[in-house]
Amino acid sequence: MNIDWKNLTQQAIDVLPKSYSPYSKFPVGAAAICDDGRIITGVNVENASYGLALCAECSLISELFRTGGGQLVAFACVDGQGNPLMPCGRCRQLLFEHSAEGMLLQTVSGIKTIDEVLPDAFGPKDLQRNEL
Ligand code: THU
Repeated sequence: MNIDWKNLTQQAIDVLPKSYSPYSKFPVGAAAICDDGRIITGVNVENASYGLALCAECSLISELFRTGGGQLVAFACVDGQGNPLMPCGRCRQLLFEHSAEGMLLQTVSGIKTIDEVLPDAFGPKDLQRNEL
């Protein structure tokens, strides 16, 4: 699949105004292409109980399921200036669980695969392997 990174980044930028980030004042927008071609987005949603903040990737994964499920083929995430943002460690794990084989991410150091940003990831297969 040929990825239109410019468009995907723009989709992430377009949802930035929907971010609820009054505490950090650090809005984040995320966008992904699913294996059926549809585009989903997400924004960070913070809370007065600071530790409960939901990253943009969390709402993107909820959107994935709300709109029919599937797997992620390409992902882009931006900060309030529209610059590429690296998904945090927890969110790399979230994305990994729903990634298509060889999923691509736009990162601060170029396009990378999910395996490059989360090497030797723990995942569903590890649970199966350890079933008694
Ligand atoms: N944030 C995200 O939405 N995604 C990330 O991958 C990194 C951090 C949010 C969480 C919080 O609302 C704000 O950025 C500052 O940490």
